[in-house]
Order: sequence, then structure tokens, then C-alpha cells
Amino acid sequence: MRLIVVVGARPNFIKVGPLMPALAAAGFDAHIAHTGQHYDATMSDVFFTDLDIPEPTWFLGVGSGTHAVQTGKAMMALEELFMAETPDAVMVVGDVNSTLAGALAASKLHIPVVHLEAGLRSGDMSMPEEINRLVADQLSAMHLTPAREADENLVAEGVDRERIHFVGNIMAESVLRNLERIEGRDVATNHGLEAGAYVLVTIHRPENTDHPERLAAIAAAFAATELPVLFPAHPRTRPLLSSAGITADAGVHVVDPVGYLDMLALQRDAAAIVTDSGGVQEESCMVGTPCVTVRRNTERGITVEVGANRVVAAETDAIIAGLAEALASARDWQRPERWDAEVAARVVAALEGGVIQLDGVC
Ligand code: UD1
Ligand code: UDP
Repeated sequence: MRLIVVVGARPNFIKVGPLMPALAAAGFDAHIAHTGQHYDATMSDVFFTDLDIPEPTWFLGVGSGTHAVQTGKAMMALEELFMAETPDAVMVVGDVNSTLAGALAASKLHIPVVHLEAGLRSGDMSMPEEINRLVADQLSAMHLTPAREADENLVAEGVDRERIHFVGNIMAESVLRNLERIEGRDVATNHGLEAGAYVLVTIHRPENTDHPERLAAIAAAFAATELPVLFPAHPRTRPLLSSAGITADAGVHVVDPVGYLDMLALQRDAAAIVTDSGGVQEESCMVGTPCVTVRRNTERGITVEVGANRVVAAETDAIIAGLAEALASARDWQRPERWDAEVAARVVAALEGGVIQLDGVC
């Protein structure tokens, strides 16, 4: 099978890390198309290096822009590529604008779309990712899901069960495959911190970054926290931090985004994690560090169910209380079902079973 795997943003790269070698070993003719949604070395190249991901066969240079500009540019470039290459199927991963663009461009050319990480729902239509997930899933011929609740979400939206494959969480496989590579890697000390005695933070969702009062509330919570805070800042967030008071004076070490392996080590060694990231909610659950998610809701409800995560409003008291609970919590939760090192193998098995073209498309 000739497969084009579309990636564009940081979490996409990580998801294809364990997948590309499994596809190659199984004899798939699989190639990466990188839209260029993320382009800084710290947001893109570092993941290809850290995870030994094959160089993209195509780099489309789409870059930043409004949602329509970015998605539209990616669709135009991908459509041209798909018409020239006529793959048997296109795989899209996650929920970013590149995911949506890949699903739209391929499905309109009647190329079956395979969605890895299908079926997650926050129920929050103010999130661009929720729109991307809903549309990508409606257009997909094969749904590869990370949790059983995702299967049920898809069935409730009218997706045939025969199209749904509960493969498990590919982010979990990546963690498991890389944890042993970072044994003894002490990144905290490089940042002047002590393992087990700092809070790791990532905040980049518009629901937080686009509301100065929420960033200020988050800053006040950090200022009230006894532990030092390490904040590798996403380029969307970085310019907003000092005016919100997220500074060294509030006990926050703001640094550039870090590579995957360093981030994994920092998550493993943190006392607790505060985030609005989807991937970090999952990874914290895998490495055994309690997580506080500063959002209105989460599509990763399974991490809350198992006891690894709690969702709190972007309000100072709620964050302080969430952090206190996390720091005091037992770390004995069970990892969710199929969050293991066999996810890529299940993806391969599902693809080998054949992708059923969507009825009525041709
Ligand atoms: C995107 C995804 C989000 C995901 C996040 C992962 C969408 C709608 N959002 O959000 O789901 O959680 O990626 O990190 O697809 N920028 C740079 N350098 C880069 C990339 C971005 O400076 O390499 C800056 C630009 O100012 C850009 C801004 O960050 O305008 C936002 O980038 P964009 O890709 O549009 O959205 P993210 O916030 O990264
Ligand atoms: N990540 C990283 N360096 C950082 C911040 C995050 O390697 O400085 C990794 C993180 O470990 C996870 C992924 O980026 O694997 C999550 O991406 P992000 O939070 O940008 O997007 P989301 O998962 O929310 O879509």
C-alpha cells in the first residue's frame, strides 16, 4: 500500500515516531508530507532528530496564518501532491489544522482517509481542535482510536463499527519506547532545579493565551506555589508571559521549547505538571507524574478517570487547589487500556485488513 502520512505540528511528529518504522517493517510504501505548520527548529526539526523519524519526502512550507489561510494553503499544497502521487490512502494524525487540510484534500480526491487518534471529543466547539476532529472523522474511511470512549463517540456520530479500530494510544507507545533511552538524563539540573522539587508547566491553548485575565490568574497561582516552576514556552505564549506576570519574580523559569527527550525527562522528574496540552496530559499519565489541566474540559477524560489528571478552571484558587491535590496524590494509577508498546503494530494490522472506501463518495 502506498500511504502518505500528513504531519504539520509538534504533536503530529511525535505520533508518527513509533509508526514509521512499523509501517516500513511491514512493507508499506509510506512517506511523510510535512505541511510546515510548525517550522522553528525547536518546534519541528528537534523531534525528527530525537525520534529518528525519516525525513519528510515533501515539505510544503505552509507556515503560520489565520485558520482559513493556514488550512487553505495546506489544502492547496496537499491537493497538488495527492494528485501527482495518487496514494492508496492518506493518513492524518491528531487534531491540528494540517489534519483537517489533509482530510479535506484527500477525501475530495476520493482517496481514503485514515485518522490516527480518531474519536476524541471535548464537546467544546470553541476549540479549533474540536472542529478539526469532527470534520476529519466525518471524512475518514478508517478510524484508529486511542480509548474505548472514542469508539463510542464515533458510533454516536453515525460511524460504522467496522471502520473503527481501537488501536490504543500512540503517544503512550512513544513514551514507553523512549523512557529507557533517557535513563539517567538529568535535564532539571541543567535548569538549576532539583528532580522531584519543581512544577513543570506548558500553556499554549487560545482559551488561556487569548485571555490576559486567565494568564494573570495562572501567574498568581505560580507566585503562591512554594516549588519553583519551569515553563518551556510555546512561541504563541512566549510574548504574552511577562505582561501577565509569569516571570522570574513569580518563581517561574521561562525557557524556549525543549526537545522531546528532554521534555520526557522533565515530565518524569517533576513533582507535578500544570498544562493545557493534550499530549502532556497523556504523557504525565504514562510517566507517573500527577497532572493539573487548566481548561474548561478535556477530550482526554480517560486520564482523569484513572486518577492521573484533574481539570481546573483558569482561576488562581482552582489552580492552587488542583496543584495541592496533585502533589498530595498517590501515583498508583493504572495506565489506560492499550496505552502500551503495541499500538503501531495494531495500526499496521488494521491497515493490512484493508481500508473500506466511504460509501457514496465515488
Ligand atoms: C497548533 C494546533 C494545536 C496544537 C499546537 C501544538 C491548530 C488549530 N492548533 O497550535 O492544536 O496543540 O499546534 O503545539 O492547528 N509559531 C512560531 N513558530 C512555529 C510555529 C508557530 O513562531 O514553528 C507561532 C506563530 O506566531 C503562529 C503561532 O505560533 O502564528 C501559532 O501557531 P499555529 O500552528 O497556528 O498554532 P499553535 O498555537 O501552534
Ligand atoms: N513538548 C516538547 N517540548 C516542549 C513542550 C511540549 O517536546 O517544550 C511535547 C510534549 O511532550 C508532547 C507534545 O509536545 O509530546 C505536545 O504538544 P503540544 O502541547 O504542543 O500540543 P497538543 O498535544 O496540546 O496538541
